[in-house]
Amino acid sequence: MNKIVEWESPSNIALIKYWGKYGVQFPKNPSISFTLNNSKSTTSIELIPKKNNKVEFYFDKKLNKEFGLRIEKYLNNITSKLQFINDYSFYIRSTNTFPHSTGIASSASAFSALAMCLVDLDCELNNTILSKKKASSLARLGSGSACRSVYGGVAMWGKTQDIDNSSNEYAISLNNGISSIFKTYCDDIVIVDADKKSVSSSAGHKLMDTNPYSTEKYNQALVNTRLLYNAMQTGDISEFIRIVELEALSLHSMMMISNPSFILIKPETIYIINKIREFRNDTDIPVCFTLDAGPNVHILYPDNNKIEVQEFINFEMKNFRIISDYVGKGPVKLR
Ligand code: DP6
Repeated sequence: MNKIVEWESPSNIALIKYWGKYGVQFPKNPSISFTLNNSKSTTSIELIPKKNNKVEFYFDKKLNKEFGLRIEKYLNNITSKLQFINDYSFYIRSTNTFPHSTGIASSASAFSALAMCLVDLDCELNNTILSKKKASSLARLGSGSACRSVYGGVAMWGKTQDIDNSSNEYAISLNNGISSIFKTYCDDIVIVDADKKSVSSSAGHKLMDTNPYSTEKYNQALVNTRLLYNAMQTGDISEFIRIVELEALSLHSMMMISNPSFILIKPETIYIINKIREFRNDTDIPVCFTLDAGPNVHILYPDNNKIEVQEFINFEMKNFRIISDYVGKGPVKLR
């Protein structure tokens, strides 16, 4: 009989950015993220016992050969970690709750959902208990940032002496000891441009190899990881804001001084950043921004300031599409 499992898994937004990698998808510096709630992928894998190792990938019910080939390559790369891969053909069906190319990291939700399905199947076939560490490590091999989405709340990835059990191989949950204010944080994403990114993450990471400031950037991220973790434990929101905004702007500065250089922010991005800072100065409401590798702005704020911040967003950003999200609980098994 064919075996089928289905998982939904969310995207995440990095507070400390992973930008630069080496070897088999190892990060050059640690990163910390919020796992989101609404922006997620739902993926099912149906295994058909056959040794021809066929992979068919359907996105929104349509056969997607391009992503199917990426998954086939990914599965071939991980056969030593999941022996059963060689014995089956794979029918994979996936959907996203968020529109394609809105700057929400679809590879994070896609590969974390896929990895949860694969690890779950492996457990069923071998009668073992599901390991999130293993799922995270497999998700990492699909897309680095995906390894953090395996956990709800706050997750971190990358070895640092400042955080016990941290590893370059997989992400860990960072929820113990984190101040409760960060457990219900909101993330309203202002869509400045929904077009496909002009530089892929993979190409972007590569640019760091020749960037003359990359070593400084990795050191800065290492220090920021320690400072942010401390701020999140003590509930120091001003320090949280300082570091999160610095990380976002450092990421974009790196892209601007890469060779070739990329300016991924747009005039509207700057306009929104200025509005957020103005609003924060005027009201003392602890709202801040972060950016992915694109022009869209993630507006981060505590849940208990929701009414005032949403009023501000509705007034100042009425011409933009907004996707409202918040910190979620991580992947869920559906079948
Ligand atoms: C700017 O995880 O998409 O979002 O490992 O090549 O798939 P690959 O890269 P990816 O890079 C994410 C970069 C980032 C920062 C982050 O999420 O930490």
